[in-house]
Amino acid sequence: MLFNRTALVCTDDGNVTIGVPGSALRGVDLGPLRESNTRPMAETYTVLARKYRPRRFADLIGQPHVVDALRNAMATGRVAQAFLLTGSRGTGKTTSARLIASALNCPNRGKDHEPCGECESCRDIARGEDLDVMEMDAASNSRVDDIRQRLESVDTRPARGAFRIFIIDEVHMLSTSAFNALLKTLEEPPPHVKFILATTNPEKIPETILSRVQRYDFRRVTATELVARLAMICNAEKIHADEPVLRAVAEMAEGGVRDALGRLDQLVAFAGDKPTLEHAEKVFGLVSRPRLVELLQALAQGDARHGLLFAEEVFDSGKDVAEVLGSLVSLTRLLMLLAASGGDGKGLDLPADEVPQMHKVADRFGLQGLVYLAELLSDCRQRVRRAAFPRVVVESTLVKLSMVGRLETLEVLLSRLNEASADSGGDISPVSQESDSEVKRQSLNSAPKAPVTPAADGGGKAGITSDGARTPTEVERAAVEAVRRKFGAK
Ligand SMILES: Nc1ncnc2c1ncn2[C@@H]1O[C@H](COP(=O)(O)OP(=O)(O)OP(=O)(O)O)[C@@H](O)[C@H]1O
Ligand SMILES: [Mg+2]
Ligand SMILES: [Zn+2]
Repeated sequence: MLFNRTALVCTDDGNVTIGVPGSALRGVDLGPLRESNTRPMAETYTVLARKYRPRRFADLIGQPHVVDALRNAMATGRVAQAFLLTGSRGTGKTTSARLIASALNCPNRGKDHEPCGECESCRDIARGEDLDVMEMDAASNSRVDDIRQRLESVDTRPARGAFRIFIIDEVHMLSTSAFNALLKTLEEPPPHVKFILATTNPEKIPETILSRVQRYDFRRVTATELVARLAMICNAEKIHADEPVLRAVAEMAEGGVRDALGRLDQLVAFAGDKPTLEHAEKVFGLVSRPRLVELLQALAQGDARHGLLFAEEVFDSGKDVAEVLGSLVSLTRLLMLLAASGGDGKGLDLPADEVPQMHKVADRFGLQGLVYLAELLSDCRQRVRRAAFPRVVVESTLVKLSMVGRLETLEVLLSRLNEASADSGGDISPVSQESDSEVKRQSLNSAPKAPVTPAADGGGKAGITSDGARTPTEVERAAVEAVRRKFGAK
């Protein structure tokens, strides 16, 4: 039996106390990695993000550029006096700040320049309780007096390790005068002092500070890297989740490791230790990628009904429509990259077994069709939030999408047009080739007088006038209209 963790929030600190009877806890034995083994198990649950906070640089995923540079600095003894760690939420800044502090003060630092993770210093730093490491949250201590107070102890010798280390998190929140108070010490601290600043908003940090620190940018972690990390953690936690489930979780996290682990916590709380894709769809209100690919495949074949049924399901099941449209936009982007890269999927953040089917869909739409798709979908996503009838907006977009795959390319249209022009003795002006996506847009968006009604025969039959000349088909007429509107052709 599981207790419900759905409402728990994974804070930076990550520990949450909940009141559930011990007998109801799954996974009471949280293993050697557990940070709070001494606490009564029945009252605490350590969220995955905290339980699996890396204790070594080697456990940090997705940041090899940072890890290599730091290891190198340790190896050569060229450790800067001040670091700035920047990057989006939950990518490892605070973790790395503590790792740097551990590595600097660990008496058993290995040949690989990793902190041992076992000694008192390493353990205290990991808990945020070491006397030589001062952690300060600038969000709640942003005033000049807060900084002055912290810096009072800057000349004090370290109690145990080689360095006194000042970690200032969310440093962009400091007031201007607080930054100024920091400036001088940051540039020339005593030899036993190191500063590690961390922020999600480097652009809010004054140039004067930026020029005095060594900066490391943490990047968003790819879905593939996240899936591997989630799989490792599931394995350790005896959670049986297939790759597509982990991928769905990873993709929602948009590159944040903390976010991915928080979502896994939530999913397991809801579904138990065998979460499926259906569980993930329910708990996060999302539509999984295999189903989105299926939708696009149907639309590519002109199946408007599939689109309408999809919209019905999304609205009736109370999913977050904008979120679903966002997933469709991301999928279209992947399809575009796939089409543009010649289709081998190399270098794309995609599992290899999904490539062939996605390739089929990409082929069906073609690169230009996909560009048009991406535009329509992102436009729809923007409009849907403020539309009086969002359902109609989504339905009409999906119906339009079902027409994209069946539209003729401009080359075909123009050659028909020119053919018709020649046959009609010049009544219809021949037109040169230009962007056909524009023609598609015009013919779909602006409801032309002679609407495009794609049909199996390529847009209706051409007629024959009494003097035997061929008259254009509906598709040809629509194309002429669209081209005239665009280029002002007579
Ligand atoms: N690169 C990473 N590799 C492995 N785990 C990570 C990584 N980044 C974050 N985590 C996980 O997420 C948790 C939070 O990470 P951390 O506090 O370092 O993020 P942060 O970048 O400081 O985020 P914020 O900007 O919100 O302060 C960690 O305890 C760890 O479990
Ligand atoms: Mg942080
Ligand atoms: Zn150590």
